Amino acid sequence: MEERIVSQEAHDTEQSIETGIRPVDFSQYIGQEKVKDNLEVFIKAAKLREECLDHVLLHGPPGLGKTTLAMIIANEMGVNLRTTSGPAIERPGDLAAILTGLEPGDVLFIDEIHRLPRSVEEVLYPAMEDFCIDIVIGKETTARSVRLDLPPFTLIGATTRAGMLSSPLRDRFGVHSRLEYYTEAELAEIVTRSGDLLHVMLEKEAAHELAKRSRGTPRIANRLLRRVRDFAQVEGTDIISLSLAQVALDRLQVDKRGLDEIDHKLLKTIIHKFKGGPVGVETVAASIGEESNTIEDVYEPYLMQIGFLARTPRGRVVTPQVYDYLQLEVPYND
Ligand SMILES: Nc1ncnc2c1ncn2[C@@H]1O[C@H](COP(=O)(O)OP(=O)(O)O)[C@@H](O)[C@H]1O
Ligand SMILES: [Mg+2]
Repeated sequence: MEERIVSQEAHDTEQSIETGIRPVDFSQYIGQEKVKDNLEVFIKAAKLREECLDHVLLHGPPGLGKTTLAMIIANEMGVNLRTTSGPAIERPGDLAAILTGLEPGDVLFIDEIHRLPRSVEEVLYPAMEDFCIDIVIGKETTARSVRLDLPPFTLIGATTRAGMLSSPLRDRFGVHSRLEYYTEAELAEIVTRSGDLLHVMLEKEAAHELAKRSRGTPRIANRLLRRVRDFAQVEGTDIISLSLAQVALDRLQVDKRGLDEIDHKLLKTIIHKFKGGPVGVETVAASIGEESNTIEDVYEPYLMQIGFLARTPRGRVVTPQVYDYLQLEVPYND
């Protein structure tokens, strides 16, 4: 019991640090220029017309800034944000309750929208298109359908996999924004900004070292920064130098390109057990004891982005670069 409370507190601290460094407006949101520029135009236009912003679908791998962007949109529109997620809404009635509780102009953010049950999704169609829902009242023979008007609102959906969204749902979003992995320069800027907010000074080379090892992902960059800051604190300094960053990151088992133990295991398994592929993702998942969803959402996209893994009709294959990379880099042997 005590242990649970302690870990909850530790979690709360990490959460509050997270909240403290999350950008609150477009000027603080680094990178994703195309997405940002477009959204700024759409927001300005909606405000000029005194209308709601059209529904927005945000997609991209975890940790790239979808939730942050939803908060910024609501903030820039000057409206409330209501947050929920696909798996949290189990029945059509749950969604109906959320929708009827909205204030005019509100942003409703549904995270992991690809995981909405189909019956719930159907409630969204008329809600998104005509701002109304049909609810059934009464039972069996006395049951009748009643149409309820909703206040105008903006739905923001976030998904790691746009391909898993049904097309009727996808088509009802007027704005589709795809977030990209961040460049090293952008991530260096992000960790430098976060460092300022956490009262640690990152030397320029240290910021770049963190950036290189963050898999193009701000959430990972900020997490590594917090861990490196722990090492600095124990050393009694609030300046993070390149060598301190390198030592700390090596100890965290994050390699030069940000690959961790699971990436290594994934690549080595494909090489050693499946002769480099092609092999189905389910098969790899089973042999390394990970969920295939996690592999598809978290690990594969980055390995593909850096050209280490390729998708073929017959399964995944490891690219020739990986053999070189692992020979140089593998810190241990199987
Ligand atoms: N463009 C950005 N600029 C600065 N920090 C960012 C940016 N995008 C994300 N972050 C940071 O990364 C963290 C994770 O972002 P989040 O919006 O939760 O990702 P997602 O919802 O896509 O998984 C946020 O807490 C925020 O501090
Ligand atoms: Mg999120």
